Amino acid sequence: MEIVSDNYGVGILGIGSGVPKNVLTNEDLEKLVDTNDEWITSRTGIKKRHVLAEGEKPSMIVEEASRNAIEDSGVPLDKIDAVIVCTFTPDSPIPSVACLVQGRMGIPPCIAFDLNAACSGFVYGLQVAEGLIRTGMCEHPLVIGMDCVSRFINYKDRDTCVLFGDGAGAVVLGKVEEGRGFLGHHSGADGTGADLIIIREGGAGSPLTKDTVESDERFVKMNGREVFKFATRVISEAVEKALENAKLTTDDLDVLIPHQANIRIISAAADRFGIPMDRVVTNVHEYGNTSAGSVALALDTARAEGKIKEGQICALVAFGAGLTYGATIIRW
Ligand code: ACO
Repeated sequence: MEIVSDNYGVGILGIGSGVPKNVLTNEDLEKLVDTNDEWITSRTGIKKRHVLAEGEKPSMIVEEASRNAIEDSGVPLDKIDAVIVCTFTPDSPIPSVACLVQGRMGIPPCIAFDLNAACSGFVYGLQVAEGLIRTGMCEHPLVIGMDCVSRFINYKDRDTCVLFGDGAGAVVLGKVEEGRGFLGHHSGADGTGADLIIIREGGAGSPLTKDTVESDERFVKMNGREVFKFATRVISEAVEKALENAKLTTDDLDVLIPHQANIRIISAAADRFGIPMDRVVTNVHEYGNTSAGSVALALDTARAEGKIKEGQICALVAFGAGLTYGATIIRW
């Protein structure tokens, strides 16, 4: 329920998602690289991922997710007054996906920008959007987490091509009753790990040339083992600090909505918090790692599966390239 009062919380009023129809299964990947369904399933939990078809653009799934979230929220389109698209895979460097979608959807002129914190982007975006509401800059920000990592994947590299997919999830935020909505956040970055997940070529620092266009360095490269170690450590730390900021402890946690990178990382986090897997949201088997889309899509899955109920305490948590991390505690 949305409220208008001096004392208020900031929460999620509507949720939506958008994924490409085109699906890439583990069996499809067996035909491209030396891998197999057993390895991918047991090491990652992933069975398939949705990927853009030729000619499709990332902004298309952002628009779909946004329309669904706005409809779900009941907030009229002309009351959306900020658009934040969290992504590292925009249609093009400029204009931002946020501006493309704001214009196409007929959202009135408002603050609109893209935010890049890789897989942590959506959690960062929620935190920035709450700040915009609390400083009086806007009332109904639309926050979208989207990545189409398939466009930066080398489908000859088995270390990465089995992991990533494309997807978008969106939310509309607004004022809610005090004590509900966002209760605490904790985010950060450790740039000393910048090399652990990286696309080296194709940015302004190293534009593609005739020579480098054939190079593997225009694709995502990842040191999986090091990122795995970072992820298992930082998920606990980020959630515990966000809970502390909310004046809560892990005993209060009802539902965990983690970044969908690897089912083993998710299970380790559930063990650490003492939460049974039926209260942990997972869709990694269906979508793979959609980077900034991941937590946003998981939120939609959580709602569809009836995993979040009024009054429950949920933790959203993500980690990714940068290295970045972020956690947010919500009372639903
Ligand atoms: N199929 C078959 N074998 C494979 C594959 C594959 N697709 N990929 C790697 N292997 C092999 C390796 O070559 C290695 O073989 P070797 O022992 O002969 O050298 C063996 O499998 C084991 O490799 P590991 O890297 O040790 O496998 P691990 O159990 O660590 O799993 C994985 C790898 C899935 C990448 C894991 O490390 C992981 O999930 N890391 C975290 C990744 C992540 O969370 N990224 C999120 C951030 S992404 C972002 O921000 C954009």
